[in-house]
Amino acid sequence: MATESVTSYLNNLVATQGLFYIKLHQAHWYIKGPAFFELHEKLEEYYDELTEHFDATAERLLQLGGEPYSTLKEFIDHSTIKEAPGEKHLGEEDMIESVVHDFETLRDDLSKGIDMFDEANDDVTVDILTEQKTYVDQTIWMLWAFLGKNVLGE
Ligand SMILES: [Fe+2]
Repeated sequence: MATESVTSYLNNLVATQGLFYIKLHQAHWYIKGPAFFELHEKLEEYYDELTEHFDATAERLLQLGGEPYSTLKEFIDHSTIKEAPGEKHLGEEDMIESVVHDFETLRDDLSKGIDMFDEANDDVTVDILTEQKTYVDQTIWMLWAFLGKNVLGE
């Protein structure tokens, strides 16, 4: 049985990924502008990938003896990414900038988890989180490039 801090970390990650999955749908539905066709499709690709991450995190938590959050209320209460209903009215570039900031929040959560599970000598969870972070890092770079900026947002 894993310690409480690592299982609680994974549970917060389940909440964050679950909420982000919904939030990416908001962007997918409401995005508008000259790059609509490209971005609408790209955002669908992101939420499809996020649902895989979300599921893998929850199933790893079950393997460690934890109980993943499984209600929308729990996701809202424990996610590090926050809901932003007003963002549906953002223009194309501002909406993508908001999405990239959420990916950065997720990246920081994943970095923290990789360190935590490395210290706990749990190689399997480190692998799962590293695979997710590889995707997230690449996505952050590409979204900033789309906005004409470097990976630091400059
Ligand atoms: Fe769709």
